[in-house]
Amino acid sequence: MSAVVELRAEYDLIRTMMGVLSRMCDLMESGEAVDTEQLDQMLDFIVVFVDKCHHRKEEEVFFPRVVAMGLREPAVIDAFVYQHDLFKEYISELRADVREREKGGDWPQHRFIEVARDYISQLTEHSEAEEDELFAVAGSNLSEDENGRLTDEFERLEREEVGEGEHERYRELASRLAEMFPPGGARGMKES
Ligand SMILES: [Fe+2]
Repeated sequence: MSAVVELRAEYDLIRTMMGVLSRMCDLMESGEAVDTEQLDQMLDFIVVFVDKCHHRKEEEVFFPRVVAMGLREPAVIDAFVYQHDLFKEYISELRADVREREKGGDWPQHRFIEVARDYISQLTEHSEAEEDELFAVAGSNLSEDENGRLTDEFERLEREEVGEGEHERYRELASRLAEMFPPGGARGMKES
């Protein structure tokens, strides 16, 4: 798999999970309960898979290569890195709200939903901009050797930061949650 194909596949997974988060928000807003365990799994995915794994592959491996090859100006890359930093702020707000919920009693559900929806829309926009402005141009300019070097670096980073086998576990989590929270459908149809 080429470096760009790998990053695109991760964004597909991330968008699947953003769809799940969006449906979780709709359900909570309409007064239905969403399990704390499922919210925790969602938060773990956002913290580890999106922030620690995907964004670091971009910042530490992919972006520097794009600049070194002269495919994009450093200022363009800086803007994407700045957005990654903003996402960290969304994540700490979401985590703080879920921690409140875990304590029992009242929790700021309304604020959680608002922040989550904002995060979903910003991250979706960000992913589309990266695909259009970076992945498309890099995909057609990276040689086989360069792709090999990038994917080796991705693998190292993933092993060190996320752990062996975790990528697959997140993939399974996404498909399980997507079945439990289908687009426009009733929740829990496949549970028994
Ligand atoms: Fe990004």
